[in-house]
Parts: sequence; structure tokens; C-alpha cells
Amino acid sequence: MKLMGIERVVFGVVDMAEGRRFLNDWGMRLVEEHAGCLLYQTADLGEIELMASTDPRLPKAIEPGSTVRELVWGVESPADLDEIESAVRAKSPGTPLERLRPDFLRLVDPMGLTLGFTPSKRTPTPLCAGQVADPAPRIDLEGKRYERAEPQRIGHIVFTTPDIDHVEAFYCTVLGFRPSDRYIGRAVFLRCKPEGEHHNLFLLKSPDAGSHMHHLAFGVRDIHEVFGGGMAVAQAGWPTVMGPGRHVISSCYFWYFKNPCGGAAEYYADTDWVTEKWQARELPQEPRYFSEWMLTEGVSRYDGVQRQSI
Ligand SMILES: [Fe+2]
Repeated sequence: MKLMGIERVVFGVVDMAEGRRFLNDWGMRLVEEHAGCLLYQTADLGEIELMASTDPRLPKAIEPGSTVRELVWGVESPADLDEIESAVRAKSPGTPLERLRPDFLRLVDPMGLTLGFTPSKRTPTPLCAGQVADPAPRIDLEGKRYERAEPQRIGHIVFTTPDIDHVEAFYCTVLGFRPSDRYIGRAVFLRCKPEGEHHNLFLLKSPDAGSHMHHLAFGVRDIHEVFGGGMAVAQAGWPTVMGPGRHVISSCYFWYFKNPCGGAAEYYADTDWVTEKWQARELPQEPRYFSEWMLTEGVSRYDGVQRQSI
């Protein structure tokens, strides 16, 4: 089976107006609005769908409040859906599974999260990770600056869950994910295909008995877009959770904000691109493996004030 990445994330939100305001400020493109449902796209045609958390059309939530209600993975072709269906029936027979349409398969994972699978309609973004935005020598040209971000793709999603091993086993054994790295006994970074960005799914040990959405990450073009986008979001009044900074595992630049749709939202750029040759590491969960550097309360545009004399 060939999984391509995250195709669509459906959120059930308590406050639709706040959710809309956040995604607009985040730089998402609103492409459709009908019957209480807002559809946003990234540059590569990945989708975020917002509905009221009380909407009866939504699948069951894994937790109270605003959160993800359905996570849809893109596959290469309709034949992959048959393959996933057979793998689930053979290897995890108790899994709730439904072929809603010939091109859409739905199941429920061990966290209770509803997953969809459908042939991908996303278009590759011009840059993949590891490339720089402007590889040509810059002579007589200004460097890049962004007034706001335009999220290019939905890169990864993160959940906390009490039994990581059980959830990891399902994703790896049944759906063909593979571990890219691990914090021993605490967390695992998984990718949905042999070659691609370092992780598409990250599972962290939950501090309680429930599973929770932790964050959703949007790839942007380069570090300047992380800064430019982040400063615009901060200026619009959305609180920073942490960042900007640079992770050690996956090497990406990041900036996380509180997301009224559920969990946090992350801008990231320049993450590691791995292949079958990548050797998954087992590391202790220590600050030195979390961030090379990090600001905790964001950064703002220069306001013209010099606070100390030279
Ligand atoms: Fe992340």
C-alpha cells in the first residue's frame, strides 16, 4: 500500500468564529463554505475542514472540546484502498471498518480516532524538505521576507496516548508506517512511506488515561516564512505555545501557536528528508534532544526602539 501523507483534517470546533479567524490569520485559503462547514486548502491542495463540534455528521471525538474528528490519509491509487482493507481485516479483525464509497475507506484506530483513506489529489509543492528556497547565488537581489505565511502542506499530526506501543504496532504492522526515531519509552516519530519527510505522525505518552490531539504541523517554504508567518499570527493576537526554535530530531525550524480548532498549530521548515537508508535512533527524552535553540514567547517585528545603549 502506498500512503502519500495527510490529505485532510476535519475538526469539530466549539467556537466556529474563532476557528475561522485563526485559519484566516494562519494563511489558509478558504475555498468553500456550505451547510455549516468551512473548507480550507494549503498550497498543495491539502484540506482542513471545520464543523461545529456538536454537528451530528462528525465522527466521534477522542476527547471533549475542539479537536480533530477525522484524519484522512492520501493513497496513490484506489487499489491501495483494497490493500488497506485486506490488511486491516487480516491483521486487526476487530477494527471498525467501512468502505463508504469506492474511493473512500474509513476505519477507527486504537486511540478511537476516525481515519479516512482516499486517493490523493494533492499537488507536490515546489520545494521538498532539505532544499533551500533560493538555491541560486543571491547577487544584486534582496533576501526573502514574508508578511504572512502561506502554508504549503499539512506535514504531520501529533497525539498523546497512554499506550504508545499498542498504537505504534497498529500503524506499523497494519498500515505500513515505520519509525524514524524514538524517545525511549516516551514517544515515537512515524512516517507513512519509506522516503519523505522525517515524520507524518508523532505519538507521545499521554500524562493521563486518554488520547489527545497535541498539534498539527504546516510546512512552509523556509525559515523566513516561519518567522514572517509567526510574527503575523502573533500580531493578530494568537498566543505562542513555544518558539521560534529549531528541533534536534528532524532538524526543522518551528513556531507553535495555540489553535482554537484543537491542540496547537505549528509552522515548520527545513525538516530532514529520509529514505530507506535512514537508521532510526533511540534517544532519551532530554532537552538537548528536543531543541538546539528556542525562544519561549515568540519574537516580534522590530519596533524601532533600542532598549540598551551600546
Ligand atoms: Fe511538530
